[in-house]
Amino acid sequence: FKKISTGKNDKGLKLYDPGYLNTAPVISRISYIDGDAGILRYRGYPIEELAEKSTFMEVSYLTLYGNLPSESQLAAWEFNISQHSAVPQGVLDIIQAMPHDAHPMGMLVNAMSALSIYHPDANPALKGLDIYNSKQVRDKQIARIIGKITTIAAAINLRLAGRPPVLPSNKLSYTENFLYMLDSFGNQSYKPNPRLTRALDIIFILHAEHEMNCSTSAVRHLSSSGVDVYTAVAGAIGALYGPLHGGANEAVLKMLSEIGTVENIPAFIEGVKARKRKLSGFGHRVYKNYDPRAKVLRKLTEEVFSIVGRDPLIEIAVALEKIALSDEYFIKRKLYPNVDFYSGLIYRAMGFQPEFFTILFAIPRMAGYLAHWRESLDDPDTKIMRPQQVYVGEWLRNYTPINQRT
Ligand code: ACO
Repeated sequence: FKKISTGKNDKGLKLYDPGYLNTAPVISRISYIDGDAGILRYRGYPIEELAEKSTFMEVSYLTLYGNLPSESQLAAWEFNISQHSAVPQGVLDIIQAMPHDAHPMGMLVNAMSALSIYHPDANPALKGLDIYNSKQVRDKQIARIIGKITTIAAAINLRLAGRPPVLPSNKLSYTENFLYMLDSFGNQSYKPNPRLTRALDIIFILHAEHEMNCSTSAVRHLSSSGVDVYTAVAGAIGALYGPLHGGANEAVLKMLSEIGTVENIPAFIEGVKARKRKLSGFGHRVYKNYDPRAKVLRKLTEEVFSIVGRDPLIEIAVALEKIALSDEYFIKRKLYPNVDFYSGLIYRAMGFQPEFFTILFAIPRMAGYLAHWRESLDDPDTKIMRPQQVYVGEWLRNYTPINQRT
């Protein structure tokens, strides 16, 4: 863990590692991925088993605190989250003030960073705050973010539909309450479909955590400066917004619609191989095998379709996967469907607009972001993140006055 240099004129060992492919800046106990074997575990539990047997509330607790909660721990956790689900009016006003055609992820970045202003007690620079040592102060920020993110997300969705926000209900489960805020029109006796609620809860479990992906590393990077957690998480949401990261499922649906029919797939694949474009929802920095989350989601699409009706785009997705997986280009590069390949189809079947898909990724990923934030605060090796560079620019130049420049 020491800087590798031996003396004054020794600049030390510097690794040129674009995209940090081989750099591990942290030691973590939160999740484990074996990309070659297609394995993902949260705190040692296989993702498939958690998706089958757990709820998102259990999994978020597990991710954050290391163990599955007991019944009483779970009840206390759920109560705490629901107690923090109300959002400051100022943040709701900010959402209302944004244009009706804004991108929901842009709105979420703004709303999350606004929470930092409304909760100055989370700012370590303020006198009296002991965020590094006080479990209570930290846990409050965690419960606030997990509690408020669904209320904010629902308010964004409603704003884009020209509807006012709906207050959260503390009588419903976490995921049920989210669907209630979206669909109830304020009718307090509204109850979301339990099978669709469970399907969304499983999707939340699958997206809760994924070690040092682009946005989670952004949380670690930002919070290493000591900034408050809302600002760090807002930065991470910004990273997630990108089409190479959380924005890919929106791109998958656009791609499937563009392909239009199964007959058009071979010509489309040829275009991909000629590097005219990428196959959205395929390939992963870590998985060089089938993404285990995509396997669960593929099954879940059929469950959701059995409730709401079959989306014709699924035939194109399945045929596209089959053709790609038997093509030398994809085999050689180990390109398989990732988590985004099927999730968009489920979201669309559930009635979500494509622009909102990445929000559905962001909601559960709060658990992972906050688990990494918490872990980094406890890690004695945490340092301000400051990578090196390999400088290849001009060495030393003579300054030219403006009237002599050509
Ligand atoms: N379609 C076609 N070719 C691809 C694809 C793809 N989706 N992904 C990678 N490749 C090719 C690259 O062109 C490269 O080929 P080359 O060696 O001949 O130059 C090779 O496979 C290796 O690709 P890299 O870009 O080096 O892989 P990297 O690990 O850097 O990128 C990434 C991973 C960004 C996810 C990439 O696979 C991609 O762009 N996929 C499409 C977008 C997507 O689905 N993103 C969601 C990822 S999951 C998530 O973030 C939740």
